[in-house]
Amino acid sequence: MRLIQLWTIVTLTAGAAAKIPAHQREHVVRSFNPHRNASSSTTPLQVGNGNFAFGVDITGLQTFSHFATESSWAWHNFSLPTTPGQTSPSDFTGLDWWTHGRLVNYDMPNPAENDISNWLIENPQRLSIANIGLHFSEGNVTEEQLLFKSQDLDIWEGTIRSTFRYKGSDVSVQVWCHPDDPIVGIEIKSDLLDSGDLGVSFDFPTSDINKFDAPYVGVWNDTADSTALMESTSSTASFKHTLDSNINGLGIKWSGKGSVSGPSPGTNRFVLKSSGSKVVQLVAVFRPGNDTRYSFPTYNNIASASREWWADYWTSGAFVDLSATKNTNATELQRRIILSQYLVAVNEASYNPPQESGTIPPRLLEMFLWHSLQFARWGHYDLLSRSAPSTYKRFLQSSIDRATQQGYAGARWGKMTDPTGRSAPGEINALLIWQQPHVMHFAEYFYREFPNHDTLEEWDEVVTATADFMASYAWWNQSTKVYDLGPPMYPVSENTSPNVTINPTFELAYWRFGLDIAIQWKERQGITVPGAWATVRDNLAPLPIIDDAYAVYEGIPNMWQPNTTTVQDHPAMAGVYGLLPPPSTGPPLNITSMRHTASLIKELWDFGDSYGWDFSMLAMNSLRLGDVDQAIAYLLDEYYVFDDAGYAEGGSRVPTPYMPDAGGLLLAAAMMAGGWDGDEGPHFPENWNVVVEGFSPSL
Ligand SMILES: *[C@@H]1O[C@H](CO)[C@@H](O)[C@H](O)[C@H]1NC(C)=O
Ligand SMILES: *[C@@H]1O[C@H](CO)[C@@H](O)[C@H](O)[C@H]1NC(C)=O
Ligand SMILES: *[C@@H]1O[C@H](CO)[C@@H](O)[C@H](O)[C@H]1NC(C)=O
Ligand SMILES: *[C@@H]1O[C@H](CO)[C@@H](O)[C@H](O)[C@H]1NC(C)=O
Ligand SMILES: *[C@@H]1O[C@H](CO)[C@@H](O)[C@H](O)[C@H]1NC(C)=O
Ligand SMILES: *[C@@H]1O[C@H](CO)[C@@H](O)[C@H](O)[C@H]1NC(C)=O
Ligand SMILES: *[C@@H]1O[C@H](CO)[C@@H](O)[C@H](O)[C@H]1NC(C)=O
Ligand SMILES: *[C@@H]1O[C@H](CO)[C@@H](O)[C@H](O)[C@H]1NC(C)=O
Ligand SMILES: *[C@@H]1O[C@H](CO)[C@@H](O)[C@H](O)[C@H]1NC(C)=O
Ligand SMILES: *[C@@H]1O[C@H](CO)[C@@H](O)[C@H](O)[C@H]1NC(C)=O
Repeated sequence: MRLIQLWTIVTLTAGAAAKIPAHQREHVVRSFNPHRNASSSTTPLQVGNGNFAFGVDITGLQTFSHFATESSWAWHNFSLPTTPGQTSPSDFTGLDWWTHGRLVNYDMPNPAENDISNWLIENPQRLSIANIGLHFSEGNVTEEQLLFKSQDLDIWEGTIRSTFRYKGSDVSVQVWCHPDDPIVGIEIKSDLLDSGDLGVSFDFPTSDINKFDAPYVGVWNDTADSTALMESTSSTASFKHTLDSNINGLGIKWSGKGSVSGPSPGTNRFVLKSSGSKVVQLVAVFRPGNDTRYSFPTYNNIASASREWWADYWTSGAFVDLSATKNTNATELQRRIILSQYLVAVNEASYNPPQESGTIPPRLLEMFLWHSLQFARWGHYDLLSRSAPSTYKRFLQSSIDRATQQGYAGARWGKMTDPTGRSAPGEINALLIWQQPHVMHFAEYFYREFPNHDTLEEWDEVVTATADFMASYAWWNQSTKVYDLGPPMYPVSENTSPNVTINPTFELAYWRFGLDIAIQWKERQGITVPGAWATVRDNLAPLPIIDDAYAVYEGIPNMWQPNTTTVQDHPAMAGVYGLLPPPSTGPPLNITSMRHTASLIKELWDFGDSYGWDFSMLAMNSLRLGDVDQAIAYLLDEYYVFDDAGYAEGGSRVPTPYMPDAGGLLLAAAMMAGGWDGDEGPHFPENWNVVVEGFSPSL
């Protein structure tokens, strides 16, 4: 039943003055600035620009913790195996599985090719480029010895200010990241700089194993020589860091006089000592390759560029102001929204599809939507445009090759991909299909925002290739006279048996959604719609129902039984009316069944084994079903946790931070604020005092 809501909500109407002026946005944003008095063992505080991020400990630099400095261009391969017959990626042959009466070759690990299979799964990895820390001349200082530690991340300006006392002297450190380039600006103030007790250290990893041991990537204590000091003057220096065939550079420039020494024996640590000044401004420029010519902006240039970029980010997008609601749930929801917005701009706004832990591997195309669609919903198309549709265009040829080689038309998008679009071997990787219609989901939001010929043309090739595969993949079942999806396949919940999985609820609904949009795409351009698209769409298998509720897949045994795997993993059937709009063609969604599905999920699902974005999917489903309180309850569920700095915690299945959870939260919040086609909302609890601005309805 729909709640009757007494709105105290104002929405922006076209042409009206800003309902939430910049100073009010600033007040709300800054009220959630993270404050720390000790390093976290799991998350850094970060500055960054989407393609580059710099994570720091309590000192404001990477002094005690090897938090990551990562960039979109910094990748590394382990050396290839030397096992005879498995020395090159082309030696990988995968496995053939029966697929509707024919053998299809999939990129699955072949037990006879273990070494090259593993190499293809593990490579390339993001490389943590270098660490910059404080260097205490007394070599054994620990965090406990620093007194009065205090640290604030000012998310309105994109800067971290850290202070503490050491040996009776105050030390303050401020760091900024350039909004366009992999450059940080650091200002250190302390008497200890002048006395020689304090310097700045530069460390380089000698390998990047430990890549799944978040938060640290890389080996920092190896004695192998990896880094050379290429050039050193009294105000500049540059380093060349070599890891196998990978070369990256770091150039630094500082105010006043000083010198760089090192590496100290058996380490890859270099130290900058300045003299004659109690203030050092240091600019560090990271870049790929071995060119030693650097050009340095000033510290002040970086600070003012950062201030300008962040003020624009916070004032140009959509905004939700819950600050007039004196309710702990509203405050916590607002905190999660604001901090997630900061973290997605730092970690997710790359020209590559984001990785699960932001700048930490792996990178999964089915999660691209959960990471990045929020940029569209919050009015940051500029950031989404960095990766879409360019990523799809970049991956198009290899995806066409994959489809062709498997006997399908169009382009089959991989799941776990490297930056070139190569799919990592894996049974799930090869058989997952729900990443496919994401293309239409992104494209349609772009078209809503920019309803013109350029948008249609820009996406046409990838939409067409995507739909061609979808039509060709669906299989005409002679006995039931419908088009089936699978087997073999994996649905969103990756815990079913692939050779019997057929017609999963979410994938069927998503196939219809994707083909509907592809057909409209052609109609808008006045181009003939390929006949197969409508034929498949109009004859898809019906959504499977078991016990009056939508099931994981058609005929799945023991559906809706407690303590079975059928009620574990992602409850994607809720996504049919949460992430997706109801169907615009074919049989309507049965809302009675959908409601029943939602209540069975609530009663039976193993939430402890779920992922955070599952809760945002469930919250969106609750919203469409009219249950706002349940939506809030899901968004604040005990298993959907955000730490003090706003990082979503991974939970039992994935490492912390887990960035799709931030994207999911922002999608759900945008749906509360902007509603959806036909019911524009907003949708918040009735006694909340809410101002929203700049949202458009969800599909
Ligand atoms: C440090 O922060 C924690 C959590 O915010 C707080 O409980 C503690 O009292 C603080 N300690 C100091 C010394 O300020
Ligand atoms: C890693 O190896 C693959 C396959 O040989 C190659 O395409 C890619 O460019 C390499 N990447 C790096 C960072 O070396
Ligand atoms: C699925 O079928 C293929 C043969 O087509 C077989 O090799 C494979 O082991 C089966 N997989 C499972 C999980 O049963
Ligand atoms: C640190 O090392 C110095 C010698 O370099 C020593 O005098 C001092 O006691 C040590 N401090 C601690 C806390 O171990
Ligand atoms: C390097 O550090 C790791 C983890 O901190 C530790 O397990 C290892 O023993 C250290 N290796 C050396 C050579 O000190
Ligand atoms: C720098 O890299 C280029 C291209 O990779 C290579 O041709 C050149 O030899 C390298 N120079 C040095 C000094 O390593
Ligand atoms: C046709 O559909 C039915 C019902 O879904 C299924 O059991 C059967 O396996 C399908 N036929 C073939 C040949 O796949
Ligand atoms: C919807 O499902 C309910 C059972 O959940 C059923 O009673 C009803 O007939 C269905 N409605 C339609 C239109 O199919
Ligand atoms: C399901 O498992 C929980 C504990 O994991 C147990 O408490 C409960 O009794 C089980 N329910 C059924 C119906 O077996
Ligand atoms: C906050 O949300 C929880 C979960 O929905 C609910 O139980 C609680 O009553 C709410 N608290 C307030 C103050 O509204």
